[in-house]
Amino acid sequence: MIDHRRLRVALLGAGSVGSQVANLLLTQASELSERAGADLELAGIAVRDVDAARDVDLPRELLTTDAESLIVGADIVIELMGGIEPARTHILAALNSGADVVTGNKALLATHGAEIFDAADQLGASVSYEAAVAGAIPIIRPLKDSLAGDRIQRIFGIVNGSTNFILDKMDREGLSAEEAQRIATDLGYLEADPTLDLEGYDAAQKAAILASLAFHTHVSLDDVHREGIENITADMIDGARRAGFTIKLLAVCERLEGEDGESISVRVYPALISREHPLASVHGGNNAVFVEAAAAGDLMFYGAGAGGIQTASAIMGDVVSAARRHIAGGVGVGESPRQSLPTAPIGRIMTRYQVTLEVADEPGVLAQISGIVSEAGVSVATVEQTPSSDAEGRAHIVIGTHRAREQALSDTVARLAESDVVERVVSVLRVEGE
Ligand code: HSE
Repeated sequence: MIDHRRLRVALLGAGSVGSQVANLLLTQASELSERAGADLELAGIAVRDVDAARDVDLPRELLTTDAESLIVGADIVIELMGGIEPARTHILAALNSGADVVTGNKALLATHGAEIFDAADQLGASVSYEAAVAGAIPIIRPLKDSLAGDRIQRIFGIVNGSTNFILDKMDREGLSAEEAQRIATDLGYLEADPTLDLEGYDAAQKAAILASLAFHTHVSLDDVHREGIENITADMIDGARRAGFTIKLLAVCERLEGEDGESISVRVYPALISREHPLASVHGGNNAVFVEAAAAGDLMFYGAGAGGIQTASAIMGDVVSAARRHIAGGVGVGESPRQSLPTAPIGRIMTRYQVTLEVADEPGVLAQISGIVSEAGVSVATVEQTPSSDAEGRAHIVIGTHRAREQALSDTVARLAESDVVERVVSVLRVEGE
């Protein structure tokens, strides 16, 4: 019989994910022990308020408000408090006291990742964060380990479940943005500060984490071009559907080749996706991430992007790995940010635009618009005109461009907006996934 070591696990935070993690550690102790090669003893759970209501009943004697004392002597510290402080200080303290860290804190890693990973490297400890991106879906370990010998060209997908839920409700049930958002709020899908989801911060944090791993470069939230779904209306969703598209909030991390060498582009924005594209079938709060690698080709990762028990699965995988490393000894496998690729401005990317303009329904208007677009060197792929539902004597012209540099496309829209024949630019959306 194997003589198992006992590892002390400190859990910081008992929210929807933390309480599930505590429950799994307590109820599956013997199975986990066999898999990890060590008994995982939940030494305590640091919380703000020991009397707060929780998703799962937890033994009261494990709850404490003293995170600092709990960290001292822990072998593995699971940080699920979220936010920057005190999570950052606790993680650094845990590493300094010889613990391995498991965290789901995307906001912290996207802003202070370099500091935390450098500290872990210096101390030979590991920081694992599978739960920080795309909930239950294993995506961090595939990028860090399975694809470590490949060259990633592009990562592309849906990494925010709540905005996908909202856009999906609008698309499939014809709801307004407000109605869909209210349902998402009632179901508890949105972050405590909903602007994190709606304005694309959450997806941008995840994109920064994915790009850092994929391109071996420190990418922080400030490097990510970010647009949210706050301006997406039911009319836009309707127009997209009629044209054979759906609207998804996408995260794109891309390697760009240029005359001056390689750079990367990391961006989050709502975009039109063909209804035939696999991402169009990602419904509700699910996530899906495509990875394009030079040797492996195209890979797709799909599943629950959020949820307490689902995200707890990702945390538990990291805990078992951290336990195995702790037992085996040796230094943790750190990040590899040495390529230090520069981030290209958004104007450098290649994309396609779909622009909806409100114009006077008069002879010659279309010719003038075509003139403006072609003078800008942008090639038109499709043009469609429909009468405006809001204004008499006006029409909506929907122009789909061919692929071009973003800078040329946005300059073209600026010229159209200034021209006498355009009453207003109703919407501008990129078309992706082609
Ligand atoms: N707010 C996040 C989402 C939770 O909607 O995807 C999971 O990270």
